[in-house]
Amino acid sequence: MNPFDQQKPIEGIKNIIVIGSGKGGVGKSTVTVNLACALKNKGQKVGLLDADIYGPSLPRMMGALGQKPAINNDDNKIQPLTRQGLKLMSMGFLVDENQAMVWRGPMLFKAMDQFFRDVDWGELDYLLIDLPPGTGDIALTVAQKVPVNGAIVICTPQNVALVDAKKAINMFDQINVPLLGVVENMAYFKATPEAEPQSLFPRGELNTWLETHKIPKLAELPFEPNVGLSSEAGIPIVESHPQSATAQGFSQLANHLL
Ligand SMILES: Nc1ncnc2c1ncn2[C@@H]1O[C@H](COP(=O)(O)OP(=O)(O)O)[C@@H](O)[C@H]1O
Ligand SMILES: [Mg+2]
Repeated sequence: MNPFDQQKPIEGIKNIIVIGSGKGGVGKSTVTVNLACALKNKGQKVGLLDADIYGPSLPRMMGALGQKPAINNDDNKIQPLTRQGLKLMSMGFLVDENQAMVWRGPMLFKAMDQFFRDVDWGELDYLLIDLPPGTGDIALTVAQKVPVNGAIVICTPQNVALVDAKKAINMFDQINVPLLGVVENMAYFKATPEAEPQSLFPRGELNTWLETHKIPKLAELPFEPNVGLSSEAGIPIVESHPQSATAQGFSQLANHLL
């Protein structure tokens, strides 16, 4: 049997987009929450699914730490939390932040199934899925269970991140998920809006590699200290500093999806 035969759309959800990376710590979750906010600010109905079950960070980044989703009385479905006008679901709501998750394949499969079938997502234009880093089970499980419209890969400028981004891109190809493009995060830093941009990382071959492979770069986002502060405070930068260069970058990124 073709493993993709199990794919079933989620009723009410128009587009499913996954956000992946080779490496952890490159800003995948940051991009996911801010892209979600930017899309919402353009009038879209957006849900966020934190599928990084090994290190769920959306509850913290969305100011929903320690919250528990309610269960509907009539159909027993899980009510996603709502923050910033977005619907949120994360393994972090079901287990303690400090608890390590030890999973076997079938358990993963079941958990993802619950996220897709037992959560009351309602009508959504976009469901954004924050994948764990790497090229593992979860991405494959998602692609087998639901039709994914596109993947965005997050990378930082240096070659050590590019090596892993290439693997993520190759994985999406293997599991038949169309690649929308790459976001270069922490691409540069400007001490003041007028200052010359500085590179925080050694610039590698990302640009030439993308050109050679005809992969679009969807955005170049600066390193911006307020991004980190906003994450810790649980309010994405698109909401806390809507005029910042970074928030504008997210707005342009959202335009690529519309
Ligand atoms: N553009 C940025 N400017 C400043 N800090 C950033 C930026 N993007 C991400 N960060 C910070 O880097 C850390 C890792 O980001 P995160 O989104 O959690 O990465 P991932 O999900 O890929 O592991 C977080 O502390 C986040 O606040
Ligand atoms: Mg993350």
